[in-house]
Amino acid sequence: MTPVRLRCEYQERPLGIDVLHPRLSWQFETERQGAAQAAYEVLVASSIMSLDQDEGDLWSSGRVELDQSIHICYEGRALNSAERVFWKVRIWDESGTESRWSSPAQWEMGLLERSDWQAEWIGSSLAGGQRTAVPAPFLRTEVSLTRQPVEARLYATALGVYEFYINGRRVGEDFFAPGWTDYRQRVQYQVYDVSHLLTEGENVLGAVLSDGWYCGNVEWRGRQLYGDRPWLFGQVVVQYDDGSSETFATNGAWKTAFGPILESDMLMGESYDAQRELTGWDKVGYDDAGWQAVTVKDDPGVPLVGMRGPTVKATQEIAPVGDPVKIDRWPAPDYIYDLGQNMVGFVRLKVKGEAGKTIRLRFGEVLTDKGTLYTENLRSAKQTDYYTLKGDPEGEIWEPRFTFHGFRYVEVRDFPGEPTREAITGIVVHSDTPKTGEFECSDELVTQLQRNIDWGQRGNFVDVPTDCPQRDERLGWTGDAQVFVRTAAFNRDVAGFFTKWANDCRDAQSAKGEIPPTVPTTGVVSEDGGPAWADAAIICPWTIYLTYGDKRILEENYDVMERFMGYLESTAKDHIRCYSDYEGFKGFGDWLSIKAETPHDLIGTAFLAYDADLMSRIAGVLGKAEDETRYRELFETVKAAFQRRYVTPDGLVTPQTQTAYLLALHFNLLPEGARETAALELVADMKKRGWHLSAGFVGSSYVNPVLSAVGRDDVAFRLLLQQTWPSWLYAVTKGATTIWERWDGWTEENGFQDAGMNSFNHYAYGAIGSWLYERVAGIDVGAPGYKQIRMAPTPGEGITWVKASLESVHGRIESSWRIEDGRFTWDVLVPANATAIVSPPEGFNDLKLDAPHEKQPDGSLLIKAGRYKLTA
Ligand code: BGC
Repeated sequence: MTPVRLRCEYQERPLGIDVLHPRLSWQFETERQGAAQAAYEVLVASSIMSLDQDEGDLWSSGRVELDQSIHICYEGRALNSAERVFWKVRIWDESGTESRWSSPAQWEMGLLERSDWQAEWIGSSLAGGQRTAVPAPFLRTEVSLTRQPVEARLYATALGVYEFYINGRRVGEDFFAPGWTDYRQRVQYQVYDVSHLLTEGENVLGAVLSDGWYCGNVEWRGRQLYGDRPWLFGQVVVQYDDGSSETFATNGAWKTAFGPILESDMLMGESYDAQRELTGWDKVGYDDAGWQAVTVKDDPGVPLVGMRGPTVKATQEIAPVGDPVKIDRWPAPDYIYDLGQNMVGFVRLKVKGEAGKTIRLRFGEVLTDKGTLYTENLRSAKQTDYYTLKGDPEGEIWEPRFTFHGFRYVEVRDFPGEPTREAITGIVVHSDTPKTGEFECSDELVTQLQRNIDWGQRGNFVDVPTDCPQRDERLGWTGDAQVFVRTAAFNRDVAGFFTKWANDCRDAQSAKGEIPPTVPTTGVVSEDGGPAWADAAIICPWTIYLTYGDKRILEENYDVMERFMGYLESTAKDHIRCYSDYEGFKGFGDWLSIKAETPHDLIGTAFLAYDADLMSRIAGVLGKAEDETRYRELFETVKAAFQRRYVTPDGLVTPQTQTAYLLALHFNLLPEGARETAALELVADMKKRGWHLSAGFVGSSYVNPVLSAVGRDDVAFRLLLQQTWPSWLYAVTKGATTIWERWDGWTEENGFQDAGMNSFNHYAYGAIGSWLYERVAGIDVGAPGYKQIRMAPTPGEGITWVKASLESVHGRIESSWRIEDGRFTWDVLVPANATAIVSPPEGFNDLKLDAPHEKQPDGSLLIKAGRYKLTA
């Protein structure tokens, strides 16, 4: 049982850790039944030699009699800036057998003090305006190394976005670094190992800067929300074999020029004139006599922090599904490419032609009924790229660097000659959150729904969880994030992603304790996101704790949650949040619900109760007994207020909307004995609507979990498999490859919904995904981090098999079942050092397993790690 997959702060071999007590985790490869850890020993050493000699000169945990294999907190001596440390672990298993030491792993600290930085903020002398952009500045300097370095690191960041180049090679593979934070509060820096890029003698350090979120268009408010032009800040630190080191930092000696990137903007697109390429600019010997001195900016003093989440990377290439379709127009035709998948990123263009010709590329998610590109729903976002040829006889290949689009279709105009299929390739970019979940089942439409959910997640997790990737919005809407976080944590490893975003929420919190509607904030709408939006500040960290066993996200953000609760308590009247005469922001309601208005104060009060409930549990986890009691009492008080105002004595919730019932049931707000009535009313409403939904963003994520909880899986499956709108499968039957913002984004009767609000890639309604994993496949959290798994699959009408898996922090979980000739067979994998409670599905009482297990009083079985076959 040798530990494998050693990780520090969720990453293998990370650089730039600025968490002072990083957490270490490992997994096991064995599928042996009963495999468990009884004790561990961790060694952390300052050199690989010490580690090889089993010396933990930085920290030796000693033998610890615990079965904990995730988030072991480093408790050794304080680590220095840039210090590299090596570690390994061995364990004793359930029978006391000692494992071998793991292979060595390592992490490296970031720059912990401001004084570690010698860099200055540099940029060009030209700034654009509110409406107009200026070209992307190229920056360069030459530095001389006395010897070949043994190690070299680049520490870099920007106000704006940057790409760094050394001696003609691009550093790393990241897009849009340093990512989006509120640049007035915090900027992330990146660390790259550039040892292999530098040599003895002359070297060139270079960078290209672009506006990004810092000064380019963000949402619909134009440019320059944080600053007027982009700035670069960074340094290369080299180590020589004699132990000495040298630092080469951005400073006034750097030079700058404008090159081929005439304009680049997240929303508008990129314009590139290949005739203006600065060939060789990033190599030694380039003549930069015509370049200008950079402008040096006074240090704004904004804190620089290491990355806590993943960077954005290109993860997939997509070829068009067929030849482009020619659309006749005067004076020359357009060509429409179909990539077969609504995706987020940009395209690689391959072209051969005359110098000076400009090709236009426009991007859209859908086509009009005439087969032309539909762009009305983009609002003011142009998402249009221009490429001007340099006339290379060998042909030219181009990809933009500093923009992204949401699209399935590409319209190519003014292409020289007849474009072929090969001219366009889609490049998918998103936060590099590794895939962790798989779900397929016998119903192809449901399987496609799951694919669409994952595509929606990929497209909208671009450094922050956004609502949509195409129109002039692309914001970190808090409501959308809380609705979807649980599903997100099945599909992909989002622990780091939400750790970073929790920090964004902290930055965005107002002095009064409000959490705004969008995070990072751009200062729009109101300070208070309102019910079901602002509450993300509690719901998201709680979900990350449950799914990754991550207590620290609760510790780190407890004060934010407390301040938020303080704000809610001080503004609620008689414990009713958003009371009718409340003058503050009452929220967005049950956004995009269908013919059913749920009052904002009902939603507000329900969420206040839910927050109190979660806060009590969080306080419990953190050992804050007083707070645990205080919030439990608050929950009871708000629950009583909810009942007084919205629940009739016989258990009806008023007004009788699906969402009102869903919240009351899911948050446990009803009087003793009223759940049954409420469930009947909820189902009656669904039936009245011909087994359709009315719930919008707020209610829809709870529909199926609530139906399951009240014993109405039959209705849950009926709604799941419903193909007419409003329903989950409607869009799938219309060929959707992502989740739509609206149930009726396009219908045969009405065509496109209101173009002002009609995204075809919005993940919120994809929140059904968590129910597919938890309930249909039967993979649910029993104890945080899936230390114990609750496995209770639910075969539903019309679904005969399911195959699902989840790479949890403890390792791979599998649950695959099939019903054939009335027999239920179930394959289960429980990772080492975890256990599972497995329950038979309804109608199959006698669960059989020919391996050791403990029968629980309710008929379920407690099983240990291993691969099992069960039947019923
Ligand atoms: C966004 C939503 C968001 C909403 C607030 C919209 O414009 O696209 O997803 O939650 O505003 O109601």
